Amino acid sequence: MDHQDFTYKTPQLLPDLDTYRSEAPSNIALVKYWGKYGEQLPKNASISYTLKNCKTQTEVILKKRIEADDQFHYEVFLDRELKSSFKPKIDKFLKRIEVYVPFLKSFQFEIHTKNTFPHSSGIASSASGMAALAKCFVVMQASVQPELTETFQAQKASFLARLGSGSACRSTGGKLVVWGKHKDIEGSSGFYGIDYPYEVHNNFRNFRDSILLIDEGEKQVSSSLGHDLMHGHPFAEQRFEQADSNLTKLKPILAQGNFDEFFALVESEALSLHAMMMTSSPYFILMQPNTLQVINKIWEFRKSEEVPVGFTLDAGANVHILYPESSETKVRVFIEDHLLQFCQGEKVIHDQIQF
Ligand code: PMV
Repeated sequence: MDHQDFTYKTPQLLPDLDTYRSEAPSNIALVKYWGKYGEQLPKNASISYTLKNCKTQTEVILKKRIEADDQFHYEVFLDRELKSSFKPKIDKFLKRIEVYVPFLKSFQFEIHTKNTFPHSSGIASSASGMAALAKCFVVMQASVQPELTETFQAQKASFLARLGSGSACRSTGGKLVVWGKHKDIEGSSGFYGIDYPYEVHNNFRNFRDSILLIDEGEKQVSSSLGHDLMHGHPFAEQRFEQADSNLTKLKPILAQGNFDEFFALVESEALSLHAMMMTSSPYFILMQPNTLQVINKIWEFRKSEEVPVGFTLDAGANVHILYPESSETKVRVFIEDHLLQFCQGEKVIHDQIQF
């Protein structure tokens, strides 16, 4: 399926006033996406676990039917408060998806959104936020086209979410989601995410993700700028090849359940992502001294206690600690006793993956 199939062709009209709701969780990538081309297409395939508790809940309220013009007429609210600062990003998103949701232009509408995690926590809310909004638009379309299959709806939601924020297309459904065309993953596509179609050992189900909030401040460099800096980056091509090859290597690891190999690959992915940032022109560093303190503590703990545990990083300073349910008691004590001191306000969010 390509992008043509998602254009909106139905003549059915949406009711004048109505409210549409959806929600979407955050995700954490094991093999990272960093670098894009064309209309939000990834330079390499990535894969992420879908989180359970960190999510965005969104409502789109159609308030009044209007004569469509070349603008979108809407307001955005976060926790019931008007957030005009969100509009530039959402405007860009709406313009990109116009042909797929043309009905929006015939309404004055409101977007109400809330996160189950603190907005300023440094956890990327754009993935869950764009995914929840994209899902609302598909719910709207499905309300007048009940014949749409679940597969179509899932793919369209992911397809639209991608146009808001790349990694958001891995947050619209599925547990372990692959995005990007990859020769070893059947059905994979750069247009939308798919649920990983191969065996996943029990060791990698029931995984936990404790997110250590190292720095709650705004990022100094946005992801969009970071992606752009991969154009002309001296190591870009090697990085894209490395990520694709890591996804190939992850397949037998996921099937066989080897923790050491899993964490070696996942941690290397996180550090490679940050290495790309540090070798961009201009270069930048999103890790903080406490990010490194935590990483070193995890390595020491893993070695001395022989507990399966590892870390990954997003485009920020926070550390995601990944571990199986069977390590939970030990890792929680370790976090409390040895890592909280490195977190801003001693904050940590204990989440788990959806499996
Ligand atoms: O979705 P974006 O454009 O915000 O990119 C974020 C990419 C990373 O989170 C750094 C990696 C990933 O694959 O999620």
